[in-house]
Amino acid sequence: MSSSQFLQAKYQSNRPFRTLIVLYRQDWGNIGRGMGFYCLKHSPEWLRPLIVANIIDIISQPEGHTLRELCLNGAVLAASILQNIPTHYLHRQYMSQAIRSMESQLRMALSSTLQQLSLSFYHRNSTGSLQSKLLRDVEAIQVLTNQIFQFLPSTLMTIGVAVVVTAMRVPWFLLFFAATVPIAAVLIRILRQPLKERNHALRRQMETMSARLIEMIKLIPLTRAHGVETTEMSKTESRLENVRQAAIRLDSINAITNASSWVTLRLFSSICLVTSASLAFTGRMNVSIGDVVLLTGYFDSLTMALVQILNILPQLGKGFEAIGSMGEILESTEIESNQGLVTLNRIRGEFLFEKVNFVYPHTETNSIADFSLKVEPGETIALVGQSGAGKSTLLNLIIGFLQPTQGRILLDGRDLNTIDKRTYRRFISVVSQETILFEGTVRENILYGREQISEDKLQQAITDANALEFISELPQGLETTIGENGVKLSGGQRQRLALARALIRDPRVLILDEATASLDTTSESLIQSALERLMQQRTTFVAAHRFSTIRQADRIVVLSKGKIAEIGDYRSLLANEGIFAQLHRLQL
Ligand SMILES: Nc1ncnc2c1ncn2[C@@H]1O[C@H](COP(=O)(O)OP(=O)(O)OP(=O)(O)O)[C@@H](O)[C@H]1O
Ligand SMILES: [Mg+2]
Repeated sequence: MSSSQFLQAKYQSNRPFRTLIVLYRQDWGNIGRGMGFYCLKHSPEWLRPLIVANIIDIISQPEGHTLRELCLNGAVLAASILQNIPTHYLHRQYMSQAIRSMESQLRMALSSTLQQLSLSFYHRNSTGSLQSKLLRDVEAIQVLTNQIFQFLPSTLMTIGVAVVVTAMRVPWFLLFFAATVPIAAVLIRILRQPLKERNHALRRQMETMSARLIEMIKLIPLTRAHGVETTEMSKTESRLENVRQAAIRLDSINAITNASSWVTLRLFSSICLVTSASLAFTGRMNVSIGDVVLLTGYFDSLTMALVQILNILPQLGKGFEAIGSMGEILESTEIESNQGLVTLNRIRGEFLFEKVNFVYPHTETNSIADFSLKVEPGETIALVGQSGAGKSTLLNLIIGFLQPTQGRILLDGRDLNTIDKRTYRRFISVVSQETILFEGTVRENILYGREQISEDKLQQAITDANALEFISELPQGLETTIGENGVKLSGGQRQRLALARALIRDPRVLILDEATASLDTTSESLIQSALERLMQQRTTFVAAHRFSTIRQADRIVVLSKGKIAEIGDYRSLLANEGIFAQLHRLQL
């Protein structure tokens, strides 16, 4: 089991603390060492009251004590302060190793899950909110870790030392200490829920805002072209306003948390000072001046420790919220799981559609209805029909991006649902309505995932896709960088790159969605002849508006509202005088 799979299996956002432990399962050594050095580094905190009490007792009762004793106490104090340099350094080193490797493992697990999630997940979650999870939430875990694994143990240590020393010197005073615990517990109880809710609200608003900002940037050409900058800005402004309000609500509860815990415990600490001082003053209970200093010193550090625990509640809240947020990815059930499914080494390319129905989630009508068809290996099926007829939906069912809500699709006699999609997709090539190119050279964009392919085959694919001419005219030919920071390509040029990308994979099944739509007539006819050659050896599904594209198809399926309205070859459909003939006339 890989580390990412392990995290997917063990992640439980409703048990954040346990999840945190799972996140660090491989790094307990470093965390432990980090925690140890943190306690050492903080030793002056709990040593100081003891030494100060000693010194005061020495100077208030000089008889029976020597100057040497005084110096010794001073030396111990100095040593405990000086050790801070190496211990602090070591503490940060170990923590950093643990935290940084947790961060990269977590981001790796998130990315790997994102690679497996079904496309419907991406219809619901915007890029912006996912980005916020990958960046902001992982960072929040880092802060949470620092709080829990260094702060908490050292605070507990401070409390422990205070209790032990007090028990040895003035045992009955422990009652005071004990009283602080319920006070702190009540405070935590009261404040926890509102903190949790407000953290959740802010996180949601941040995600929405992040999504909005990314959308705004993407829309800039459209916005400018239509002169609607002010409308766009007011949309952004309202998201920013929501974040502002949620953040202020969170800040105010944080402020209340901090102030109320500080005041309560400080008051208590003052009571302790006055009580112990008056006991020393009246000479009861055998309390020395040094004891008063020691008790108030420890009581101070005890209450400060509790105050700090209360103060980190807001950050704990934020961290736990982040664990929940990432759970939305890691615990998603929309995983396209290929485990235990049949892997394919070769396919013939025979398709059988058995009463396939498909309804998009949250919609009522069937986008594909009772679709039954047998497709022989090597056959070319053209899908025509009005916009919204269901052509792209059917192609997505064939690719396996969508699963039939009823009925089955059989590939070579095997239900597509029982096949490991990753192995199946090795044999298909898709050219979709929107050409996706990434930032890189033309060569990288064509080869994508097939880097081992020979130069000859690459050249052949480029020629077949009729892309040779424009590529050779680019400043650095195949090595020209395209995309955001490089040369921009026209729609037709992008499409030809996508075709070359599809051809280089030498697929058994070719899926073309309006693949020649944005080409001029000359390039279209050039590609057309290339495509016709290619379609001969492979099963091809081609969705097209342009009729020139489908003249050569073995069969044409006319879709209307997801149903097969007509089926046949070009001539017979024209002769039929049905929908196809109508569409044909319109196009002429
Ligand atoms: N993600 C989606 N969620 C909900 N409904 C959808 C989704 N995608 C498409 N549809 C609906 O399904 C129907 C078929 O859409 P599809 O994209 O398959 O049409 P098409 O034939 O490819 O159209 P075009 O020729 O314009 O590309 C349409 O009514 C559309 O509104
Ligand atoms: Mg479409």
